[in-house]
Amino acid sequence: MRKLNLFLFFNLFSTLLFSQEKEISINSKLKFDKNNYLIKEASINGKNIKYCSFENIIYVGKPVDIAYQSMNVYIPEEYFKNESIGKYNSETAPIFLPNSVGGYMPGKIEKPDLKKDGSPNSILYALSKGYVVVSPALRGRTLTDKEGLYTGKAPAGIVDLKAVVRYLHYNDKDMPGNAEKIISNGTSAGGALSALLGASANSKDYNKYLDEIGAVEGRDDIYAVSSYCPITNLENADIAYEWQFNGINNYSKMIITRNTSSEEFNDRSLKRSIQKGELNKNEIEISNILKPLFSTYLNSLSLKDENGNTLYLDEEGNGSFKNYLSTVLKDSANKAISDGKDLRNEKYLIFENSKVVSADWDKFIKSGDRMKTPPAFDSFNLDSGENNLFGTKIVDNKHFANFYKEKFSEEKADSNIIKLMNPMNYIENPESPKYWRIRHGIIDKDTSLAIPVILSLKLKNIGKKVDFFSPWGQGHGGDYDLEELFDWIDEIVNK
Ligand code: DHB
Repeated sequence: MRKLNLFLFFNLFSTLLFSQEKEISINSKLKFDKNNYLIKEASINGKNIKYCSFENIIYVGKPVDIAYQSMNVYIPEEYFKNESIGKYNSETAPIFLPNSVGGYMPGKIEKPDLKKDGSPNSILYALSKGYVVVSPALRGRTLTDKEGLYTGKAPAGIVDLKAVVRYLHYNDKDMPGNAEKIISNGTSAGGALSALLGASANSKDYNKYLDEIGAVEGRDDIYAVSSYCPITNLENADIAYEWQFNGINNYSKMIITRNTSSEEFNDRSLKRSIQKGELNKNEIEISNILKPLFSTYLNSLSLKDENGNTLYLDEEGNGSFKNYLSTVLKDSANKAISDGKDLRNEKYLIFENSKVVSADWDKFIKSGDRMKTPPAFDSFNLDSGENNLFGTKIVDNKHFANFYKEKFSEEKADSNIIKLMNPMNYIENPESPKYWRIRHGIIDKDTSLAIPVILSLKLKNIGKKVDFFSPWGQGHGGDYDLEELFDWIDEIVNK
């Protein structure tokens, strides 16, 4: 008996020792090396800025794809000379964490740069304001390994982003910048990942995947979320789209083709063209089936407006939730008017004393085409980007929408993976950030306006501070209001 005990004790001891060694060896590789940087310079509005560029840092211990699991860290040079920039110094500077993901494709490391119009990109702007910037590459839906297995399907992108945040918390003492003040930013699919990163803070549901890639163990919560036009809540996005666009049978589809052999999905590597058409009988029928499903979904959320009134929709899709979107439209118009736009010719706006007092949502929707054909996201033919996101290591495309029941079950993604991709499932998590800024342009038709509004309302209803707005004349895009974005960040980080 004693021998057995001794044996068990020895075994336990060696296992402990071994796992501790393993832990230490992974973590030591993931220590931030303060001395390994290049000094670079950039110019913004005639002002020269110098920053230290830490390049191609692999942020996980067991990378699956080195190019897409590495990041650059940019730090204003002042912080290496014990100087301050405005209110910030090496200890207190917030960490701006933009991701470059578009279309759920792999996202590349981005550099401080000027945009096509000559204005600074968000990274350069953030540096000029004294922020530490972390620009990660993230895996996306088209990546494969040497054997041809898919390595970037859901939930790879969010798992990588969480691994980055864990790296930042782990290295907080050694790295300039304050990991208690991480602000995530992204646009479209990247906006969805940004929202999901915040919502799912410290959730154990992702641990299996984080362990697989050798992420540092620890926290992955952030301070605030900035999300432009998030293509999110994917399993309900088709029914939201048909609720908004049912009856609009003309479409102007954006056809995106790559004009390089690169995997990038950004302005430089893509060609966009508009394909016009009209829904056929079958598509109209699909739209008619999907539209009423949205009322059921919306009512199940028991959302409340700012005055505590419950928002609902009847079977025809009318009700207080639709009226709420009219007020979003009205607020958008009034802001544009106060900025000097003349909107008197917009027939869906009702004016009193040169202010918009109400807006007719249906008329507004009827004033243009739809963009996507039904189902907008989860295509019957499995040929959408989102179908491609939900593939597996060996199957390229899968279904994911809630409206697909038994019929397609064998082609449906694992329900747990679908859950991991939707911030709506995690919002009530008390560790998710208090501060959220969400934007969706009023003429953005890549997803229904209902999707970001639902996200914002749900956040507000549980007591988060949400700055939601739908800018006038704005289509699908992000980072178009950097001054306002950084004013908002400056304000919340000092709270
Ligand atoms: C993006 C746009 C879409 O219309 C979509 O369905 C998914 C992603 C994007 O721009 O990232």
